Order: sequence, then structure tokens, then C-alpha cells
Amino acid sequence: MHVLQSKKELQVILAEWKSKKKSIGLVPTMGALHSGHLSLVRKSLEDNDFTVVSIFINPTQFNNKEDLKKYPSDLSKDSALLTSVSDQILIFAPSKLEIYNGNISSKSFNFNGLEKVMEGEFRKGHFNGVATIVELLFEAVGPNRAYFGEKDFQQLQIIQKLVQQSNLDLEIIPCPIERESNGLARSSRNERLSKPTREAAGFIYQMLKAAKAKFGTENAKDIRDWVSIQFNENQLFELEYFEITDIDTLIPVNQVQVNKEYRAFIAVYAEGIRLIDNIALN
Ligand code: PAJ
Repeated sequence: MHVLQSKKELQVILAEWKSKKKSIGLVPTMGALHSGHLSLVRKSLEDNDFTVVSIFINPTQFNNKEDLKKYPSDLSKDSALLTSVSDQILIFAPSKLEIYNGNISSKSFNFNGLEKVMEGEFRKGHFNGVATIVELLFEAVGPNRAYFGEKDFQQLQIIQKLVQQSNLDLEIIPCPIERESNGLARSSRNERLSKPTREAAGFIYQMLKAAKAKFGTENAKDIRDWVSIQFNENQLFELEYFEITDIDTLIPVNQVQVNKEYRAFIAVYAEGIRLIDNIALN
């Protein structure tokens, strides 16, 4: 397994692959890999001749310093996990200065409002940080395809918009959400939950499934109110937001229209740890 920290070294290898017209898939991650990440890696290995997995905890997308400090990091564990999937993967794990060319700051983006709601509203500056690093990773790797999970559906839509606005020559491949056996969406942050809370956190997915069952017969406001009551009655979890939105604009809806697709999105605190999830409604 190759682990590269320098862009120059990476580009020597990439230039050789590209000269042979090999296709390259990129899976951007912040490490602490789990089977959710591995599902993206497997898809990339299927679709491409070579796969680059980037591992970089991006400081500019953390609005909460404590969350950044506590973010799990273990490069040798991650690389062993990736080796168990395939020995054809190249890991790119740059330092902050290397990937940011010495200037660790976010650019400012306008994604027509996609960046303002939900995660954008509650994590100020988050998507500027995400778009900045993803653009830098696209520049460094120049992939044919890049893989993003629907777990972070708003991020996925924003990256699609970034590619469209900047006319980038690559394809974004969305990948479905991987869940633990109780339905909790897999996340590096789940490791920080106590065992009983992690088990109980299947409740979040149950709420999404209940919202989906109600969708179509009840209006969005009634569903939102119902979810909010369920969380008020549950001591373990604190609801930050629950929204039903059009999947393209991400604008919360009250009135549902035919021929449009909708998703429910949720953010919850458990033991001070922030968890997000979402579900397709139709
Ligand atoms: P990270 O949280 O490490 O996630 C990396 C990728 O894995 C993202 O595309 C995310 O949506 C996907 N992923 C995480 N959990 C998943 C799950 N349970 N099922 C399916 N996919 C899952 O997202 C980031 O890192 C960063 O914002 C990044 C894009 C790397 C930029 O720093």
C-alpha cells in the first residue's frame, strides 16, 4: 500500500497512469474509516483502473474547535483497512500546509442557497471549507470520477454544483448510506458514543422511516411537528433540525408537488456528539 504525503510524488504516479490512459477514481475522506467509506472505495475500484483515497482532516470545515480536536485519527489503522480491501489503492495523506499551499483558509462560494440551509445554517462556514478542500483535492488528483456518500446529501449536492459551476471535467458518483445493524448511519463520530447510546441511536433512523411512512398522507408541517414531539419525549437525543426538502433546491417545503423528489434530513445531538442522517421520501 502506497501512502503519499507530497503532491509532487503523487503527481509522478498519476502522470504515469494518465499517460497510459488509465481511469482514476478519487474517494475523499477524513480518515477513521468504516464500512461506509469502504463502500465508496469498492465502487471506485469497480469503476476505475486506479483508486486514490485521500485522508485529510480538513480544519477549515470545522466550525467547532472541540469537534476538530476530538476527531479520531489513525493512519496505520486506516491503511491496514484499505489493504484488506485491495492492494491497488493509493492513499494520499497530505499535511495541512502541503494541500493548502501554505495558506490554510477557505474560499467563499455561492451555491445558489444550497449552502445556506440545514448544515449550512447550523455550521457556519462549513461548506466553504468543504468546497475549498474538495476543489484542492480535485486539482491535486485530477480524477475521472469522485465518490461521495448520500449520508452527507447536502455536501453531495454542493459538490455537484461546484463541478457544474466550475465546468470541471469529472463525474460525481453518489453512493448509498451504510448503516449499523440498528439503522444508525455509520459515522466516524459513532465511535465516541457510549455503547448504550449507540444502541439506542437507532431511534434516529426509526424517526426517518416513520416520516417516510407518513409522507404522502400527512403534510410536511404535521410530520415535522410529530418528529419534534417524539424527540421532546426522548431524554437521550436533542433534535437540532428536522426538515423535508426538495432534493434539488434543498428548500424546506410545506406543500408537496407531483413529479418532484423529496428527502427528510435530521441533525441530532447525543452525549454532545452531533449526528446527521437523511432518507429519500418518494
Ligand atoms: P468523511 O466524513 O470522512 O466522509 C467521506 C465520505 O464518506 C463522504 O462522501 C461521506 O458522505 C461518505 N460516508 C460517510 N459515512 C457514510 C455512510 N455511512 N454511508 C455512505 N457514505 C458515507 O465527508 C467528508 O469526510 C469531508 O467533508 C470531505 C468530503 C472528505 C472533505 O473534507
